[in-house]
Amino acid sequence: MSNFEYQNGVLHAEGVALNAIAEQYGTPAYVYSKAQLTDNFDSYAKACAGRDALVCYAMKANSNLAILDLLARRGAGFDIVSGGELLRVIAAGGDPKKVIFSGVGKSVEEMRLALSHDILCFNVESIPELHRLNEVAGSMGKQARVSLRVNPNVDPKTHPYIATGLKASKFGVAFDDALDTYRTAAKLPHLDVSGIDCHIGSQLLDDAPLLEALDKLIELIDALGAEGIHLHHLDIGGGLGVDYGDGAPVPVGDYLGRLFKRIDAWRAAKHGGAPIKVIFEPGRSIVGNAGVLLTRVEFIKHGEEKNFCIVDAAMNDMARPAMYQAWMDMQPVRESAEAAAMFDVVGPICESGDWLARDRELSVAPGDLLVMKTAGAYGMTMASNYNTRGRAVELMVDGGVVHVVRQRENPADLFALESVIR
Ligand code: LLP
Repeated sequence: MSNFEYQNGVLHAEGVALNAIAEQYGTPAYVYSKAQLTDNFDSYAKACAGRDALVCYAMKANSNLAILDLLARRGAGFDIVSGGELLRVIAAGGDPKKVIFSGVGKSVEEMRLALSHDILCFNVESIPELHRLNEVAGSMGKQARVSLRVNPNVDPKTHPYIATGLKASKFGVAFDDALDTYRTAAKLPHLDVSGIDCHIGSQLLDDAPLLEALDKLIELIDALGAEGIHLHHLDIGGGLGVDYGDGAPVPVGDYLGRLFKRIDAWRAAKHGGAPIKVIFEPGRSIVGNAGVLLTRVEFIKHGEEKNFCIVDAAMNDMARPAMYQAWMDMQPVRESAEAAAMFDVVGPICESGDWLARDRELSVAPGDLLVMKTAGAYGMTMASNYNTRGRAVELMVDGGVVHVVRQRENPADLFALESVIR
C-alpha cells in the first residue's frame, strides 16, 4: 500500500491532503512520506537481519538532512561521492565509520577529509587514484581501507545514461585488469585492501544482471584469495529500480534472498561457511516512491499541434524528463469527472526541453494542482537555479503532521554570493 492515496477524491500524503499542503506552503513543493521512507529502508534491513551486512544509502538520490538522520537512526551507512556529502552525513548525525566513498575523481582534499573521519572504505576506480590515496594516507600517517570498483561488463538493460558497468563506461576497473590492479594495491604501504565492489547501473527492474555481476565478483574474490589477497567485504552496489508507472521492480526481499542464497552456497562450498560482509548501495529504491513533486497549473495553452498544461514546476526542479526522456507519472490532486484532453505538461523555463510529461490525458484547469509521482529520488538533488528560480520547499509528512525539512529558496539567496565590479 502506498502512502500517497486518494481519500474522498483528494490525493493525500499519509494523513494530510495535498491541497492543504499547497495552500500552506505554496508550490512547487517536494513532499516526502516518512512512513514510506521507513518501510523502504526496513525492507533492506529485514532481509539483512542476522547477517554481517551494511546498507549504505546512496545519498546522491536525495541528501536532505532529515532523510539522512532518519536512515542513520535506523542503522544505515552512506555511500558518498563528494566531501560535501560526507559533511552532510556528519551534520545529520550519521556515523562516518559506516561511510563508503565512491566516484572516479576524488580530490586530495576530499581524501584527506574522509581519512580524518576514518571512513569505512574508499571505492577506488583507477590505478592513479590508488597512488594518490596511498600518498595522502601516508602523509597523514594512516592506512586507507580500499575496495576496487570492478566493471563486470554486465548489461543492466537500462537507459544508457544510467548504465555504468559496461566496457565503454568511465566507471570502474575493467574486469580483465582487476587482478593486476589488486596486486598493485596490495603493494602500496598505506592502503589496506579490504573489499571489492561494483555498481552496474540504475533503475533495474530485474535482479538477473545484479546476480550475474555477483558471480563475476565471486570469481575474482576466489582468484585473489589464491594469491593471498583476502577480501573482507563484497559490495554489490545499488541499482534496484522503482515503479514509475511503467513496471514494478522485483521486491527487495526477493532480490536479497536470492543474493544471500548464492553467497551462502559459495561460502559453504569454498570457504567452509566463513561469512563475508555484504554491502549494498541503494539510492532510488529507498527514496523514489517516498516523494512527490506538487505543482500548480498556471495556464492552459492550446497550440497549433498540442495542448500545453503550463505548471509552476520546471526542469530545474525535476531534470529527469529533460535529461533522460524519463516517463514520470502525473496525477491530479483532486479526482475529476470532467472530460480529459491530451496535454504536454511543461514548465515556465525558456527551453523547449523544459517538459515534465508528454501526451498525457488530463482533466485540468488553471489553478488546479498536479503531482509528479515517484519523484523522491534524483529530484531535489539534481535541481538547479536555472532562470534564477529558487529551489522548491521540501516537506516531510509524518502521519498528520507536516515538517518543513528545507525552506524554499528566495531569489536573494541565489545571488547572495555574487558581487559586482565597479
Ligand atoms: N552506487 C553508485 C556507485 C552509484 O553510482 C549509484 C548511482 C548508486 C550506488 C545508487 O544507485 P540507485 O540505487 O539509485 O540506482 N540521475 C539518474 C540516476 C543516476 C545514478 C547514478 N549512480 C536518474 O535520475 O535516473
